[in-house]
Amino acid sequence: MNELHQKTRHITDLILKAACEARKETDADGGYASSGPVKWPVSCTVGPGLEGAIACESKVGYVNGIKGSLIYRGYDVFDLCAYSTFEEVSYLLLFGKLPTASEFDIFKREISRYMAVPATLRLLMSFPIESFNAMAALRMGAHFLRREFSNVDRDDYKSDVENVIGSDEDSIAMETTPRGEKRAIYEFHEKRDKKEAAEDDGRYNPATGYRSCYSLIGGVASMAAAIKRIRERHLPIEPRPDMSHAANLLYMMTGKVPTPEEERIVDVSLILHADHGMNASTFASMVVASTMSDMYFSVGAGIAALNGPLHGGANEQVVNMLNEIGSVDNVKKWFDSAVAEKKKIMGFGHRVYKAYDPRARVLMPLAEYFAKTNTRLSGMFDIAKSLEKEVVNKLGKEKKIFPNVDFYSGILYQSLGIPKEMFTPIFAVSRVSGWTARVMEYLENNRIFRPRAIYSGTFDEKYIPLRERK
Ligand code: CMC
Repeated sequence: MNELHQKTRHITDLILKAACEARKETDADGGYASSGPVKWPVSCTVGPGLEGAIACESKVGYVNGIKGSLIYRGYDVFDLCAYSTFEEVSYLLLFGKLPTASEFDIFKREISRYMAVPATLRLLMSFPIESFNAMAALRMGAHFLRREFSNVDRDDYKSDVENVIGSDEDSIAMETTPRGEKRAIYEFHEKRDKKEAAEDDGRYNPATGYRSCYSLIGGVASMAAAIKRIRERHLPIEPRPDMSHAANLLYMMTGKVPTPEEERIVDVSLILHADHGMNASTFASMVVASTMSDMYFSVGAGIAALNGPLHGGANEQVVNMLNEIGSVDNVKKWFDSAVAEKKKIMGFGHRVYKAYDPRARVLMPLAEYFAKTNTRLSGMFDIAKSLEKEVVNKLGKEKKIFPNVDFYSGILYQSLGIPKEMFTPIFAVSRVSGWTARVMEYLENNRIFRPRAIYSGTFDEKYIPLRERK
């Protein structure tokens, strides 16, 4: 057991309790629909929104929507939350097995090294990031990372920004010890080996392709944190190589070394959000990758798709909705009118789950645990629990609608003082490991994605010149 897990046994206990309840409730619901190697072509019934379509074969992860279970590379996500870490889970997703101690050390060092993205942050800071939507800034950052880590966009081009801001590529205004200084110029301790970085040209080269995954897993975390800082008119903070991914994310956002409890809940949340079948953002990344574009464009597409309120953007909307409801007394009235107006209730429902989302099962008791210490959040948690009861009683029975991953995550993040516009970027920080793992896997047997539409338009229209049209 690692030191963090030793210090946060009570959190492990909450996870194991949630797992135990989930297994008790869903054991009777049948086994896994595992099919073994696929013989193409396959037959399936496809609904609107590609419901039921089988797009590819994958060994990365599996969602059993009837049982309400989630598997990464054969491991139950409950066990991974209880015993693993985000870095280990990222390795597992990418390479298909748990790392040995030395593989893990090397991997962690790589990811941590790639967290230092001075040139990308400098480019980002040349835009009015404080007035950007945080996800728009993150997507832009993913494309800037492409420039920093590949030769593709470098050429001989020198932007004005480079000339104006500074000459040393690895120097950027940063707070060394975050005390609110605005002007410190900080040189990164860990300089990347330029030759090595340059080897990875950002395209899918089996020999170097994984480096683009490392640079995105590390870099997206640093960018998300920097975007929060810049939006709050603070300078970014350099990552610390001695910290875990979760601790670094919090540290770079807040400037404070997180407590073990804070680090652990972010770590658990990152594990829970890391991969989830052929969800919209994963599919978007894979579609882009299948054209033989590159990993940075793919992740940029993933970030863009994740942003929508029907997908990752729901977590922010949940908090807006709970604020709008305002009190436990108002829940029933609000819910009845939402049903009457056929409103989508944010944080509920799922294309695949027809049972309680296992990720929500873990996040709920954690949100409850942390909300207890904060009057405002405990009020919000009570509203959420009361809404869950109403939704499950009515829509759970009628339409198999239950809470999903986005329902409790916002309350949890708020207990860490994270503003709501950062919830979806944090989702992206985690999901980048799933996006990259699935893209790498798909490219082993790539075939461009190219579905068809059923044409339901007319055929025999006659062209009428503009001046004759009525
Ligand atoms: N509230 C109320 N009714 C709902 C909800 C909801 N959240 N979700 C689905 N329904 C109803 C829907 O109105 C429809 O009813 P009817 O058959 O009477 O018309 C039925 O359930 C099927 O809904 P659908 O929209 O066809 O289902 P879908 O598979 O296309 O959509 C979804 C899945 C997640 C987009 C949808 O459930 C939804 O909009 N949920 C709210 C947004 C949300 O929480 N999104 C996060 C999803 S989980 C994390 C992630 O992947 O990012």
